[in-house]
Amino acid sequence: MTDASLQVLQTVAAQHGLGLSIKEYPMGGAAIDATGVPLPDETLTGCLASDAVLLGAVGGPRWDHLKGAQRPEAGLLGLRKGLGTYANLRPVTVPKALTRLSPLRPERVEGVDLLIVRELTGGIYFGKPRQEGRESASDTMVYSRKEVERIARVAAEWAVKRGSRLSSVDKANVLASSRLWRRTVEELMRKDFPNIEFDQLYVDNAAMQIVRSPRQFDVILTGNLFGDILSDLAATLPGSLGVLPSASIGEGVGLFEPVHGSAPDLAGSGSANPVGMILSVAMMLDHLGESEAAASVRSGVGSALNDGFLTADLAHDLPAVGTREMTEAICKRAAIPADVN
Ligand code: IPM
Ligand code: MN
Repeated sequence: MTDASLQVLQTVAAQHGLGLSIKEYPMGGAAIDATGVPLPDETLTGCLASDAVLLGAVGGPRWDHLKGAQRPEAGLLGLRKGLGTYANLRPVTVPKALTRLSPLRPERVEGVDLLIVRELTGGIYFGKPRQEGRESASDTMVYSRKEVERIARVAAEWAVKRGSRLSSVDKANVLASSRLWRRTVEELMRKDFPNIEFDQLYVDNAAMQIVRSPRQFDVILTGNLFGDILSDLAATLPGSLGVLPSASIGEGVGLFEPVHGSAPDLAGSGSANPVGMILSVAMMLDHLGESEAAASVRSGVGSALNDGFLTADLAHDLPAVGTREMTEAICKRAAIPADVN
């Protein structure tokens, strides 16, 4: 995925005259194998000194026996926390070419365009205490007013730029942290964003609504765990997790990674879908202020899909192409000026 996305990045950088300086650092399983820890200091320092960080996916059966802080996933959480990327943006759209391939009815998913804004550096992923015994184990879900307010502000500002609608998702009928979440978001919206159409849903209901009538949503604001779950669920709309990108932003350097995991069953097969990570490159370019280059990446992806290039996750009974062929199809089309595409 990383190679594919760098190939596309290099193509559009050349086309738009952007200088690139790319450094690679190990992280996750690769870092565990090389250094014994999932996030070496050198990796975090290198990332902090960059303009942006592009990341593949972490985890795999090879490291599944490891506990807590030694796991590849702990490296990812450490990187997110270390970069202060508290806002994870996960846009979900259904490209025209995929409408009829979706597991949901085409008329239901046509025109879907929603943005999940997931809180990324708090909640149950980071709460203390956490204990892992043989007979019992526990995690703690904590949110502070400040944490909720800053992520809610990001989501509301996106709603202003998009369709002016915001849905906040929690479990306030059961969880104390969700009641704080709900109160805080409500106050912020009333005070600073009175013109945004605003509603609050319980997460179980939100899961059903995303499948039942996804077009009702514009921006979905939610916590770390619920956002993780709902973004995989939302991948049923375009039909594959393989096409969803994400951007994590916050205090400084942004982190750009696909929504999907490392798919160990596909590793080395050359058949995985690179689109999620390639569209993460587009989000990175946008964030860096290179919107024309970002548009080239997106138009390359859109044209490749329109021209019938589909990886196995999308193709079903249609003929499928591999990762390399998909990437080449995207590069070729990204290099054509958008207005000719
Ligand atoms: C994601 C992933 C990660 C998460 C894992 C790999 C720790 O599922 O980015 O959605 O849960 O945040
Ligand atoms: Mn996930």
